[in-house]
Amino acid sequence: MPRPRIEVTGLGKSYGQVQALTDVSLQVGPGVVLGVLGHNGAGKTTLVDILATRSKPTSGTAKVCGWDVARFGHHVRRHIGMTSQFTSVDDTMTGRANLMLVARLLGASRKQADDRAEELLTSFDLTEAADRKAATYSGGMRRRLDLAVGMIAGPDVLFLDEPSTGLDPVSRSGLWDLVEKLAKDGTTIVLTTQYLEEADRLAHDIVVLAGGHVVASGTPERLKAGIGQRTASVRFPDARATHYAVGVLGYAGMTPLADFGICAVQIPLAEPGDIALLVRALDSAGLPIMDLTVTEPTLDDVYVALHRAAQEKAAQVVGQTA
Ligand SMILES: Nc1ncnc2c1ncn2[C@@H]1O[C@H](COP(=O)(O)OP(=O)(O)OP(=O)(O)O)[C@@H](O)[C@H]1O
Ligand SMILES: [Mg+2]
Repeated sequence: MPRPRIEVTGLGKSYGQVQALTDVSLQVGPGVVLGVLGHNGAGKTTLVDILATRSKPTSGTAKVCGWDVARFGHHVRRHIGMTSQFTSVDDTMTGRANLMLVARLLGASRKQADDRAEELLTSFDLTEAADRKAATYSGGMRRRLDLAVGMIAGPDVLFLDEPSTGLDPVSRSGLWDLVEKLAKDGTTIVLTTQYLEEADRLAHDIVVLAGGHVVASGTPERLKAGIGQRTASVRFPDARATHYAVGVLGYAGMTPLADFGICAVQIPLAEPGDIALLVRALDSAGLPIMDLTVTEPTLDDVYVALHRAAQEKAAQVVGQTA
């Protein structure tokens, strides 16, 4: 196994009385996209800021590319790129000048900076606006410029804090392609997002934060398999057939849930062979299937279930202390 690019152990951060992160541990390897999910205030930005050396942990340790973030920030910064939740573009300069400036600060020659700026302006579809002041950019264009700035150095580890907020669907899809390409080329990417679809599409691994704690982690597939349920939905010609189907399926050991209004039955699928079993049972009972669809669980299901569990736990604690 290659050495992890990010190693976090028992990480905590408090701001006075506010415990923003508690006992967070994780590892991220080269070329891996880690999706960090969680409600507003869950601790996503706090985690990213510590890893990007913008703030210091109050407990635990974090290493990026082998360097402890609290003690060797200057080494860490040579390996990382970052786009924060709030843009850090200089409005008084053109898009190109913003990129050139950062490239030059990072030690590129004039020619190298020029080439890199051109490359990124093309990737982010900003060539036409390149020589206009950033103050004249739309919100989405500024966001794209900000992302381009974060990617200038071609870093080993890239932190993207809610990168697609405010992007239109076309820009978002462009960003996704770019993230996929960077990861394929070996860049480690930590991406916080409110869009579960984005995490599902891009992330190889996910951590879900709630109240500063990791409440779930794993591959999107594992998280979905652990919580979400594959469900078959079968439609029948009339309510009578629907009633009959409920009996037949119950007898076959399934737990059908009927909606007689639309003559449909939903059946949770626990085992891979359940669909064959379902079709055989209905067919041998002479029941005509008008339509059969199978719904896979989504990360939304996982997220909703986790949030509900966290709320129930909080309610229990309140109940106990009341
Ligand atoms: N500088 C600060 N001083 C005091 N409290 C802070 C500070 N920064 C963050 N917090 C608190 O820490 C907690 C985690 O905040 P954080 O910004 O990490 O959340 P987040 O998951 O990024 O939320 P969002 O989705 O809104 O961006 C919140 O309760 C927040 O109020
Ligand atoms: Mg945040």
